[in-house]
Amino acid sequence: MRRLLFAANWKMHLGPDDTRGYLKTFRARYNRREDRDIWFFPPAVAIEAAVLAVRERTDLLVGAQDVYWEPKGAFTGAISAPLAFQAGARATLVGHSERRHVFGETDEDTRRKVAAALAGGLAPMLCVGETLAERDAGHTLAVVVRQLAGALSSLDGPTLSRLIVAYEPVWAIGTGRNATPRDAATVHREIRAWLTGRGADAPRVLYGGSVNAKNVAELLAERELDGVLVGGASLDPEGWAQLVQTGAA
Ligand code: PGA
Repeated sequence: MRRLLFAANWKMHLGPDDTRGYLKTFRARYNRREDRDIWFFPPAVAIEAAVLAVRERTDLLVGAQDVYWEPKGAFTGAISAPLAFQAGARATLVGHSERRHVFGETDEDTRRKVAAALAGGLAPMLCVGETLAERDAGHTLAVVVRQLAGALSSLDGPTLSRLIVAYEPVWAIGTGRNATPRDAATVHREIRAWLTGRGADAPRVLYGGSVNAKNVAELLAERELDGVLVGGASLDPEGWAQLVQTGAA
């Protein structure tokens, strides 16, 4: 059975109180389906509230939006993989385009963060994707492969099997523009080939960038997509419950 993953990236929205209210509404509105997992990436301060609110539900999981690569120390403002794990997170985003473009993270930073996440018991969800200028120059696949190689080259097949890759074209994030399902599939095929060529077993590749309840079914009809990573359209619990229920498995 194809198992879809729906990931909600709340970015810098929804604190602990908001999170409790959100997840109460979401759980009331979402009729559990056995063919899908739903992961929430709240801000760090709301991880624990989210973990408590999804307990006893094996299909719901909470992750961090980012972790620093050192496990502990004098790094004011940062959280580490062991700290996120202690709060109940079991996954983390790595290299989201806002980390790369707003905070200046490099491929080398993503490599260290993926390694730190794995060492700390968190499943890394590595985000990759090209800018509009890179796409227009015909460099999409080269950029994505460079980002994969930069973050993952030193990992063996069993380790690669523990992580997820999210393809998010930068020009599609928060803009209302999507890649077509066919364009996305071309990139997904390349990502999957890169991972399986290094021994990954059945890697999961998600698509992200302006996914919403209207376009999700068309995107997921494309078999190369194993799920979606969603920002804006995940912020309203009723809309997110509807989105998660949509989309053929
Ligand atoms: P968006 O964000 O759905 O608001 O475009 C996606 C993301 O940044 O992960």
